[in-house]
Amino acid sequence: MRRHRLIVGNWKMHKTIPEAVDFLGQLTELLTRGEYEPSTGVKVVIAPPFTALSAVAAALGTLPFLLGAQDLHWEDQGAFTGEISGGMLADIGCRYVIVGHSERRRYFGDTDGIVQKKAAAALRHGLHPIVCIGESLDQRLSGQTEHLLSTQLTESLAAVSKEQAQDVVIAYEPVWAIGSGHPATPEQAHDAHRHIRTLLIALWGEDAGERVPILYGGSVVPENTRNLLVTPYIDGALVGGACLNPVLFAKILAVAGSLN
Ligand code: 13P
Repeated sequence: MRRHRLIVGNWKMHKTIPEAVDFLGQLTELLTRGEYEPSTGVKVVIAPPFTALSAVAAALGTLPFLLGAQDLHWEDQGAFTGEISGGMLADIGCRYVIVGHSERRRYFGDTDGIVQKKAAAALRHGLHPIVCIGESLDQRLSGQTEHLLSTQLTESLAAVSKEQAQDVVIAYEPVWAIGSGHPATPEQAHDAHRHIRTLLIALWGEDAGERVPILYGGSVVPENTRNLLVTPYIDGALVGGACLNPVLFAKILAVAGSLN
């Protein structure tokens, strides 16, 4: 089954509003010069920091890109100083939200139980949760990758019904590949994605489990995009560093578009 391709740019804690607007101006110019044809069946999501969400929504102009956020709180409202709810994200035009990114897990204590509640909150507000899972280098070296992925996935998705599965996106981001310049090899990514696909099918059955897109993330750059995305198990990419540069991001979109 060929799922649509999805490229998500996670800006992390980068770009002020003027920088965001400037980035989109440059990206629009590059794309309208014909380096990338937006009708190629590649969905593109941009996930800026909260502060730039509405400026990015406005600056997208005619680009058919969708807006994403990088996190949300699991409650709908209340006394949670500093937090942002799913309803607020939907309100501002978000369609996607990243949950369980390894940086959230590492620096902010997001456990699988918290990720589970965040994914459920996203779905309650009509947002697609992009649920991130991935092993550390130690876990890979000690042969725990598959076990770890199974635990993270099943616990993070425990509150998602089979009917809601169609709205979920999974991102496999090996922690050792993030920001390191050392991406997983296509074979390593292929094996992990195949394992995740088997888990999704075990969880929700063949039909629903096959529909869920699985993205790869970790040091994706234009030069390695093709080799990673040609395998049928990899449906797209969650891009960090390279998505901050309009030329690199446009190139990644062009490669993804050329594969359809
Ligand atoms: P890099 O592409 O910078 O490795 O970051 C990946 C990532 O964490 C995307 O969420």
